[in-house]
Amino acid sequence: MQLKHSEAEFIEAPELQRGRAPYFRRGFELADAPTRAVLRITALGVFEPWLNGVRVGDEILAPGWTSYRHRLLVSTFDVTTSVHAGENVVGAILGNGWACGRLGWDGLSAVYRDAPALYLTLDLEFADGRRESIVSGPDFRVATGAILADDLYDGEDYDARLEPVGWSAPGFDASAWSPAVVTEWPKASLVDRVAEPVRETQTVAPVTISTAPSGATIVDFGQNLAGWIRIRVTGSSGTRITLRHGELLTPDGELETANLRTAKATDRYTLAGDTVEHWQPRFTFHGFRYAEVSGWPGELGPDDLEAVVIHTDMRRTGWFETSDPLLNRLHENAVWGMRGNFIGLPTDCPQRDERLGWTGDINAFGPTAAFLYDVRGILGSWLADVAAEHADRGYVPWYVPAITAKRQAPTALWGDVVISLPWALYREYGDVDILSALYPTMVGFLEQVLENVDADGIWSRGFQFGDWLDPDAPEGRSDLAKANPALVATAYLYRTTNELARIAELLGHDEDAARFQRLHENTGAAFRREFVTPSGRVVDEAPTSYALAIVFGLLDEPQAVRAGDRLVTRVADAGFTISTGFAGTPHILDALVQTGHADVAYRLLLQQRSPSFFYPVTSGATTIWERWDAVRADGTLHPSSMTSLNHYAFGSVADWMHRTIGGLSALAPGYSRVRIAPQLTEAITSASVRHDTARGLVEVSWTRDASLFDLEVTLPDGVTALVTLPDHPESSELEIGSGTHLWSYELPHEEPRSFGLDSTTGDVGRSAERWAALFGVLKQHFPMLPDELAIPPLITAPQAQSTVADMLEHIPWTTPEAVADVERVLQSMS
Ligand code: BGC
Repeated sequence: MQLKHSEAEFIEAPELQRGRAPYFRRGFELADAPTRAVLRITALGVFEPWLNGVRVGDEILAPGWTSYRHRLLVSTFDVTTSVHAGENVVGAILGNGWACGRLGWDGLSAVYRDAPALYLTLDLEFADGRRESIVSGPDFRVATGAILADDLYDGEDYDARLEPVGWSAPGFDASAWSPAVVTEWPKASLVDRVAEPVRETQTVAPVTISTAPSGATIVDFGQNLAGWIRIRVTGSSGTRITLRHGELLTPDGELETANLRTAKATDRYTLAGDTVEHWQPRFTFHGFRYAEVSGWPGELGPDDLEAVVIHTDMRRTGWFETSDPLLNRLHENAVWGMRGNFIGLPTDCPQRDERLGWTGDINAFGPTAAFLYDVRGILGSWLADVAAEHADRGYVPWYVPAITAKRQAPTALWGDVVISLPWALYREYGDVDILSALYPTMVGFLEQVLENVDADGIWSRGFQFGDWLDPDAPEGRSDLAKANPALVATAYLYRTTNELARIAELLGHDEDAARFQRLHENTGAAFRREFVTPSGRVVDEAPTSYALAIVFGLLDEPQAVRAGDRLVTRVADAGFTISTGFAGTPHILDALVQTGHADVAYRLLLQQRSPSFFYPVTSGATTIWERWDAVRADGTLHPSSMTSLNHYAFGSVADWMHRTIGGLSALAPGYSRVRIAPQLTEAITSASVRHDTARGLVEVSWTRDASLFDLEVTLPDGVTALVTLPDHPESSELEIGSGTHLWSYELPHEEPRSFGLDSTTGDVGRSAERWAALFGVLKQHFPMLPDELAIPPLITAPQAQSTVADMLEHIPWTTPEAVADVERVLQSMS
């Protein structure tokens, strides 16, 4: 809603007072108390509102970051009980925030303004019907105080000796303060905040406090998070405490800051002295798990500080748990990745000199985010910015808000967020409004893509991020993936034209719908002509290429079967480690399951060797890393510099976990109809998924042992489900309605498998434990065996067909004892 504004003006501090955070105040007299008082406030910069000596509300870092020139969010507070007869004071402290502080890795700062500016109205209503407004203008006074410096990336420097105590309360002498200066900013940009504000959502106590080899004091909070540290300290006046933040320790136990790039992430507090002092920064935040504390008076104890978690205060709507603690932690890491990156807008990371609203990251993570939390507010707001930027610039920037005027090419997975994210939100909530709001942007984006499609119907022109962060891409060129960028882009175009055709149809744009449908079909035909052999090979044979061709439905049935088999080979060739990037990782497990290779999907999911979904978890990760191998086994950072340890994009695997392990997915928008179809594996013996959908709580939980399977499903009123009972003796599919449903049945009895010298190495190697046992006994007898053999043979490789006996024969030093021992180990396997 556009705000009506009285004659309030944007105001700033005079030139002479620039540099430190400005405190603004205005005193006013009232003959009687108002019956209603409403404060509306915003800033270019970040604001903390105060009224009569008390901080107003609990919003943090407001107004957050939006495309300020188009949408500057105004917060509203009912302050009726805080305004009284007599003298009152309204005011605010402003920080640099996104408008005036640093932004991006290119050294930009003050992208929107040189100095923060305040805008507020305090609207008062009285019993006799009178109305009066106190509005920001030249009669406000301004001074600096305790905040010597503040920057989102670099941190805050606070000198408590300089705090103008009582500055926002009546009776304070502000005669030395300067008049505020009126400044220009388009008032048409003012809009009401609709998303939940950023708040403190949790505190985390230190797990350990230790001394590093250098003598530095290191605090470990045990969880990588975004926020800051709150301290409680007593000491003499002028004592200066420094808090440096980091996500990791170096192998020798010092604070690692290389992956923060140029962000200083350092807070400083100078004590006023002689009483207990409580402090936390207000105009910065850090992505961290560890802190290095220096200058602390006396010995630092665990009760002296705690980490404060901040993020947009969304309602949690999705939960997932299994019998496997590593899987649970992987899921938890995705949740924490989201919490660390939903601070007013969806960002790539919260720690380094970046923290931008990268389109590709949220496009990949969107369905997961919408399952875990109610994201209508924050993503609706961000998409409004995307639409505004597009309307203004004529293209979709790679990250929104944009911070450069440089034109950015339309890209798959990044730019097409304008289609796929609203579509994902529609699928989640069943509400078409988000589709109509973005429709012009979607169509505009597509027109630009079409300019980059060549005569063969392939999206081959212009820059692409492609399968960004393919682990095999050369250092420093994360875009040089194995998958051909034109193939990836055309596959994504096939997906988005389909979504757009359906969106146009839903919105009643029938001609558009027909056109997009034709485009969709032509793109599919072009893709097959260019990239798929008649028998189902996809040309570059990259796992991502197969995954996209399968999941986006680009292949006919026999081709899909062949492609699935080839994908298995490629996954096996990579030793069941991850060999896909941003474009392929969200789809590869689905591609395997859809082509009948759930066992391989599970093997890939449960792999612990780097790079893999589990490798970070087994290395102690508490968030999703930017790349699965961001920290190497020796504890050093991967040299690519893409080493944020809190990047949600790859957390998109959680969406697959909900749908495939938990077994719950939406069949109709808004979950009016769902599919229940868990895929079983012996390695997981129970799972539960709960989702508070737009129609109420849907719950699925199951347990299994070697022979018995129990499933419980609860659906709210108005929701129906198609249930596929997994491994049911009669492979049963059934329809159910609301209520609680229970099934319990015997799983098909599998003959216990036996192993011996005539088993193939491929068969033994299907299970990592079995292979480890075999390798263990071989190594005992033949210590010279190369360690690479610890990796199970690829099940599709020719040598996987040979038996263990063959293998032993090829070892020149084979002894009868060795053969007997190997046989004994094989026979003990099942
Ligand atoms: C960001 C990514 C982003 C990418 C695109 C990186 O610096 O952190 O997550 O999508 O750039 O180039």
